[in-house]
Amino acid sequence: MPERILVTGALGCLGAWVARCTLDDGDDVVGFDLGENRSRLELVLGDDESTVTLVRGDITDLAALERALDEHEITRIVHLAALQVPFVRANPPLGMHVNVAGTVNVFDAVSRRLDRIPGVAYASSAAVYNASDPSPAPEAGGASPETLYGVSKLAGEGVARVYRAESGVPSIGLRPYVVYGPARDQGMTSGPTMAMLAAVRGEPFHIGFSGEAVYDFAPDVARACVMAAHASDGTTGVYNTPGAPADVTDLVSCIQAEIPGAEITWSGDRLPFPAALEAVGFDRDVGAFPRTSLADGVTATVAHFRRIPTTG
Ligand SMILES: NC(=O)c1ccc[n+]([C@@H]2O[C@H](COP(=O)([O-])OP(=O)(O)OC[C@H]3O[C@@H](n4cnc5c(N)ncnc54)[C@H](O)[C@@H]3O)[C@@H](O)[C@H]2O)c1
Repeated sequence: MPERILVTGALGCLGAWVARCTLDDGDDVVGFDLGENRSRLELVLGDDESTVTLVRGDITDLAALERALDEHEITRIVHLAALQVPFVRANPPLGMHVNVAGTVNVFDAVSRRLDRIPGVAYASSAAVYNASDPSPAPEAGGASPETLYGVSKLAGEGVARVYRAESGVPSIGLRPYVVYGPARDQGMTSGPTMAMLAAVRGEPFHIGFSGEAVYDFAPDVARACVMAAHASDGTTGVYNTPGAPADVTDLVSCIQAEIPGAEITWSGDRLPFPAALEAVGFDRDVGAFPRTSLADGVTATVAHFRRIPTTG
């Protein structure tokens, strides 16, 4: 019997890639998203896009979420719906409401359906750290985020911890850093992917940060989300993603290796997180986290944009 996976935020970048992995596994995808724009799904899924059932709903509406879980007899859940850094900055009350209350709703709904849905896979973020944390930052750390977005993600981890302790809801959280790949077209760290798209189009691009960061290829993070959703042995934890640590100069070199002469500049502070993160727990507790090198991820992204020259 195929699993029926509910993906909140399915119209976003990681949502589209989680849908890709799920369909590749032969399972069914039900997307739950406030938006209506299916272009990221189209970019990532091509002709398979029409096989994704989409429920239009707000994650802050518990009744709507519970209806979706029951009407579609959902057996697994990947919770990605959130507002990213710029959107939380633009509207802090809404950002905190969506990111925190939305996450409470997911755990609350699952706590009453543990016979059918064995736990929650959800996205936290490397934004739970700040620039003064040690590098590599210990996986057990991350207590003083520098942004409200980071505070909302840390709160989500707390929600997960309390629902485990009080209601027995297992959960696996992931803390991606700079996600890149086709469909990554919004958020504070979308610049690297937008630079790849601009280079394919022969246009110049300016990345608004500098220095070292960890680059997570979107299909790798999505596969790990799906692995987390399938865990049914009660494993509970929150894990850093073992992406590729690199400087912006390394990233630009990878793009220029694919597209010689690509006009990419960069400036600004480094991102407000440690340059590198310890990331050992997922391999230990869940399974081997997929690791695409930065060079291979850039090659694949550029090839995807050459076939379909749009962001989503
Ligand atoms: N992209 C990154 O670099 C990165 C890094 C760390 C963590 N994350 C986290 O991973 C998750 C997915 O990121 P992404 O890059 O795919 O984001 P995205 O912005 O591309 O997609 C987010 C999706 O959530 C949906 N959404 C927003 N508010 C909603 C609401 N009230 N109800 C239902 N849906 C709603 C949006 O319509 C959108 O489709 C998020 O939780 C994000 O915080 C992303």
